[in-house]
Amino acid sequence: MEPLRDGWGREIRSVRVSVTDKCNFRCTYCMPAEGLEWLGRAEILTFEEIARLVRVLASLGVDEVRLTGGEPLVRRDLPALVEMLAAIAGVRDLSLTTNGVLLDRLAGPLVAAGLTRINVSLDSLSHVRFAELTRRDALDAVLRGLEEAERYPELRPIKVNCVAIKGFTEEEVPALAELARRKPYVVRFIEFMPLDADELWREDQVLTGGEIRALIEERYGPLVELPAKASSTARRYGFADGIGELGFVNPVSEPFCSSCDRIRLTADGQLRTCLFSRREWDLKTPLRDGSSDEQLVAALRNAVAHKELKHRINERGFVRASRSMSQIGG
Ligand code: 5AD
Ligand code: SF4
Repeated sequence: MEPLRDGWGREIRSVRVSVTDKCNFRCTYCMPAEGLEWLGRAEILTFEEIARLVRVLASLGVDEVRLTGGEPLVRRDLPALVEMLAAIAGVRDLSLTTNGVLLDRLAGPLVAAGLTRINVSLDSLSHVRFAELTRRDALDAVLRGLEEAERYPELRPIKVNCVAIKGFTEEEVPALAELARRKPYVVRFIEFMPLDADELWREDQVLTGGEIRALIEERYGPLVELPAKASSTARRYGFADGIGELGFVNPVSEPFCSSCDRIRLTADGQLRTCLFSRREWDLKTPLRDGSSDEQLVAALRNAVAHKELKHRINERGFVRASRSMSQIGG
């Protein structure tokens, strides 16, 4: 079939599927302390509905699927969904982004179901500062989850994602750099984006990838840039002695929109063509009203044709997204 291409000529190869808007953390850069109003059970797509959409997307050339949330591991029986998606012909790469707190229990079942890669969010290696940021005292559980993931060589790479915030993350950088050298984890720093429900994001809170790299190079000397895929959001770097890998995801200081090959599906079945979309495309209705796969293909092509050229975070008059990261799915 004709591949899925947007109005600017970009081919869509990757879908991020949010399986729940709920989360057991309350990261300050994402959610308010008291949480958000959760979606009702009937609004959330079933595993069968998700698998059908992924099957249709795979027939259009989308070969990369990432499961996200909220926190995807709070969705009951998630390994059963992983198994369904892993069985779809054309799904080449199946991964998961998690806060890691339930991973020590679930890594084994997820790998058995066919998961091949994992990203774990980890913003601090200090108990006090971890709790300050996530509003949960769960650092040890996350580290246990990572250790459990390490036990499965099928699950690689293991990436650790740190949201970089000015005035906070500078102090975390040395320990996180050491973690990348000590453990088989690729440690990645992600620039803080205006996707927090509390709308506290300010431009001057962005600690750029360039600034973090300079902090690391002060200590370790020049890092060596490693090759990355064209559609990759991260720039990859190794330490000069060959031990340890870092990544920098710089959506604010170095936007990568021109090579974006992603779309997103919210837990309630809305297609978003950009993290910063102001508009969503309802797929839940056609999934539930007896529409055919051909009609789903037409809805997908129409939505993708309208994919935004780029985010406008750095432009005057930038308007925030209509939902926070936990409601969209990182
Ligand atoms: N800016 C950047 N990254 C964010 N995440 C959540 N909120 C933000 C934000 N405002 C990250 C999480 C996780 C991934 C799903 O998105 O830390 O790694
Ligand atoms: Fe939960 Fe992830 Fe949001 Fe933190 S960033 S509150 S772990 S959804």
